[in-house]
Amino acid sequence: MDSYSIGYANIALVKYWGKKSKNPVLPFNPNLSLRLDNLYSKTKIEKSNSNEDEFYINDEKQNFEEVTKIISFIEKFVPKNREKIKIISYNAVPTAAGLSSSSSGTMALVLACNKYFNLNKTTEQLVQIAKEGSGSSCRSFYKMASWLEDGSVEEIKTNLNLAMLVLVVDENRKKISSRNAMELCVTTSTNFDYWVQKAKEDFVEMKNALAENNFSKIGKITESNALAMHSTTKFANPPFSFLTDDSYNAMEIVKKLRKNDYECYFTMDAGPNVKVLYLKENEENIYREIKKLWTKKIIMCTE
Ligand code: DP6
Repeated sequence: MDSYSIGYANIALVKYWGKKSKNPVLPFNPNLSLRLDNLYSKTKIEKSNSNEDEFYINDEKQNFEEVTKIISFIEKFVPKNREKIKIISYNAVPTAAGLSSSSSGTMALVLACNKYFNLNKTTEQLVQIAKEGSGSSCRSFYKMASWLEDGSVEEIKTNLNLAMLVLVVDENRKKISSRNAMELCVTTSTNFDYWVQKAKEDFVEMKNALAENNFSKIGKITESNALAMHSTTKFANPPFSFLTDDSYNAMEIVKKLRKNDYECYFTMDAGPNVKVLYLKENEENIYREIKKLWTKKIIMCTE
């Protein structure tokens, strides 16, 4: 029997970038995301054959540090006297490349623990557990979700058929984790306060745009919010950037398509890859045009 639990990646249209509190994990600003059903992780837990806890990602045994990290998270919510376990996980998302593998991985892990340890938690409880593992993962439980400053997670409804593809700039593991990068920006970035203020406004505007089914407005906010998040890295000490020349080329391609009436918008997370937001009904045309301009890999993210 295939007893894997599935967790999905999500990409924020209004980003979570900074923790107002670490315990419990609370964001500085409300944020909102779209789930990418084609980018997922699957995880199952078995009894360990050895006398230690084990953790595998894509058949690769993880080192002591990774095992310690994952075990210290799950020990927050699984029974204390437990037998040693083997966590087996597969990512259909390149790991730690800013393609949100932490959100899909954490969701899958929390669901797998719920199953293996018979925790019988509700979705609302699992969402709250997940956010303590990785903040953004709490949004993966819904197709569209917002995560608010008080920690609550709300499902967001839309009549639009929002879709995404990724222009893959680099699939390798990033040099700086989103967690450390975010922390550096919170503590040192001279425009962090500006970011928080803007993100709060973007969130309100984004909810209005979604209620109005105004795709152009949704897209414009998505782009400007992503750029504002990335600008905090440039004003950090030391300054850094997730984006490379190819990321900027990809953004130019998106702008060019838009000029030619193929409506789409970009967003980027803690890595160089560029995600493109469009309406599902335009997918064929957008894919055809983008393929002419982008010669590297493209990942289609939504069913
Ligand atoms: C740039 O959820 O990975 O993807 O809570 O420290 O695990 P931790 O951070 P994480 O950060 C995601 C940041 C982001 C923006 C977003 O998804 O909202």
